[in-house]
Amino acid sequence: MDAPGKAGGFFITLEGPEGGGKSTQIHRLAASLAEEGHVVWTTREPGGTRVGEMIRPLLLGPRQSRLAPWTEALLFTAARAELVNEVIRPRLQRGEIVLCDRFSDSTLAYQGYGRGLNLESLRRLQKEATGSLTPDLTLLLNLPVEAGLARIPRSAQDRLDRETKAFHQRVHAGYEQMAAEDPRRWREVDASADPDEVARRVLEQASSALRQAGVQPAQRRSA
Ligand SMILES: Nc1ncnc2c1ncn2[C@@H]1O[C@H](COP(=O)(O)OP(=O)(O)OP(=O)(O)O)[C@@H](O)[C@H]1O
Ligand SMILES: [Mg+2]
Repeated sequence: MDAPGKAGGFFITLEGPEGGGKSTQIHRLAASLAEEGHVVWTTREPGGTRVGEMIRPLLLGPRQSRLAPWTEALLFTAARAELVNEVIRPRLQRGEIVLCDRFSDSTLAYQGYGRGLNLESLRRLQKEATGSLTPDLTLLLNLPVEAGLARIPRSAQDRLDRETKAFHQRVHAGYEQMAAEDPRRWREVDASADPDEVARRVLEQASSALRQAGVQPAQRRSA
């Protein structure tokens, strides 16, 4: 059964370690799906709403001092609750495809596996804050931690990018564990290939999931 109020649309999230190409690929995927005639909305976390964009610099600003793990978890989750309420659920209810650059799994990976907060508590919190909204498909853009971090110039690194390598290794292992535990929702894409190849694999996975769910383009484009 769908979550309450989710009728119609299709919710895809992109997840994975730093530098995997989530932000690069989400736009390419949106363009490809729109080209096929789907109505697509793209958003990112934390942000995507007025309040979410105010929370974003508190969490990611590289000059921001260290936050207590629960402060971090609650701020990310507050921004997410707002995004679900203001953007994601209304658009899904209108039957749109919503693509989101990170979602609840990022909190489990970073604040759970990475910082060591209790996973069950975090899962309960996500359920409450999102009204149990779970993605229909989660793409894990996977690559070795060092390779991902090496793609991000220091000037572009955020507060979490600058965490220790051990932290990023725990996050990475957490993603792989979550994907292994729920293979129906998660599809892994090797993100170490060149961007065109990654885009091709991402579209292939998304198209196959949409087909399986019987989601058709809302409007066919005339040739
Ligand atoms: N397949 C690729 N091969 C090489 N470089 C890439 C590839 N995909 C993206 N990049 C480059 O790597 C950097 C990080 O990509 P991007 O910002 O899309 O990753 P991200 O997963 O969103 O990272 P973050 O987790 O930090 O938000 C960018 O400079 C981007 O141009
Ligand atoms: Mg990004």
